[in-house]
Amino acid sequence: MDLTIFAGSANLLLAESIASEHGLRLGHRSLQRFPDGELHVELQDSIRGHDVYIIQPTSPPVDENLMDLLFLADASRRAGAARLTAIVPYLAYARQDRRATGRESVSARLVADLISTSGFNRLVAIDLHSPALEGFFGIPLEHLSAVPILAQAVATLTPAHAVIVAPDLGAVKMAERYAKLLGLPMAIVHKTRISGEAVEAHGIVGEVRGRSPIVVDDMITTGATVEAAVKAVLAAGSVPPAVVVSSHALLVGPAVERLRALPLTRLIVTDSVSVAAGVPLPIKIVGLSPLLAEAIKRLHESRSLSHLIAHG
Ligand code: R5P
Repeated sequence: MDLTIFAGSANLLLAESIASEHGLRLGHRSLQRFPDGELHVELQDSIRGHDVYIIQPTSPPVDENLMDLLFLADASRRAGAARLTAIVPYLAYARQDRRATGRESVSARLVADLISTSGFNRLVAIDLHSPALEGFFGIPLEHLSAVPILAQAVATLTPAHAVIVAPDLGAVKMAERYAKLLGLPMAIVHKTRISGEAVEAHGIVGEVRGRSPIVVDDMITTGATVEAAVKAVLAAGSVPPAVVVSSHALLVGPAVERLRALPLTRLIVTDSVSVAAGVPLPIKIVGLSPLLAEAIKRLHESRSLSHLIAHG
């Protein structure tokens, strides 16, 4: 079966890099908006009988990028793709997985339904906000992890006395994986979210005094969580500077300003979301294309993905 890779508009560099790992060019497609804002998608290559992969993180602008993904799926299905896989390195709406206060939409479930019914046979995502999201999808979801490659990047910077810090309870499992890979102790910050842009840290479980903090999280959105965690551990006797590691760097609103004000040696993130060139942060971007190209190769050849999957 022929292999074709298309890109949405969210992260062309990542998509090109994945295609080039396969010695391919991206499939030709056109994504255009009509004057009234409607999206029009057209595939310009024949894909009848092909194994098709669509690469599109649903990063900001979230709804536009989600629509690109769904419309590309629909066009591919109608054009006769034999098998269709969504490669969504960052999956949006994952945090809205329950009704926290009542009379709310469970948006993660609706987005899962939209992706499942748009024509995809399978979805590949990286470091989902919650692994339990898999149960929301009617199609198989391959949940890969960037933690091993991010941990390798951290290892080169780790001072002798460091501590892995989970900035909230949701990050504990991920922090355990970093702590195990790097052979470091861990601590957990007790965080409460006050609004989309504000959080509060109340206390810390674990010993941070005299140790340099490595704060790990699945995503940085406005930077509030990381800011609160770094300040809390420093106030508790942790030794600056800090390292911050995150799979997805959305960096919206005040994020850059907040992170710039912290004593950071390094912010280590992946390229799941494209980061603006020249962002004034000590950023190191770890490329996902080898991991995603390997996943595509294995899926294309119907081989196991088990060593790439995020367990736990
Ligand atoms: C929340 O539970 C997530 O894991 C992140 O900690 C959070 O979404 C980051 O958002 P922000 O940077 O706006 O605090």
